[in-house]
Amino acid sequence: MEKTIKDIIAKYSADPSQIIAMLQDLQAAKRYLPEEDLRELAVALEIPLAKVYRIATFFKAFSLEPKGEHIINVCVGTACHVRGASRILDELERQLQIANGETTPDQKFSLETVNCLGACALGPVVVVDQEYHGDMTPGQVDKLMENYR
Ligand code: FES
Repeated sequence: MEKTIKDIIAKYSADPSQIIAMLQDLQAAKRYLPEEDLRELAVALEIPLAKVYRIATFFKAFSLEPKGEHIINVCVGTACHVRGASRILDELERQLQIANGETTPDQKFSLETVNCLGACALGPVVVVDQEYHGDMTPGQVDKLMENYR
């Protein structure tokens, strides 16, 4: 069963020093940080809501918008760029019918770009749910996506 914010607060005994761990658990459970949960967290930890938001917006791993079930990261760093990363991004945008940074209306996929995944020799690289796919071509995008549809 999906953890609720109440479960998460209880797990860390409402200890304000554990707020990042709590936000990580909430992000993992709901794939984003819903506003009502952040409000409840602020009250339970007795800290200002603005402070909760400051932390939530500081870390790139946290999202205030609902994210898709599958997160697709296209590397657009220099090495991947010169090997055609933008054509792969274009193909993903075309197939998913969303722009970079968006989530499909069925909440299945979120499309994002990153600047270097540290696997330049494999470029162009696409990472889906932490799984690396190297030497990507636009023609391989369809086959890749089939695994997640
Ligand atoms: S530039 Fe893409 S992995 Fe480094």
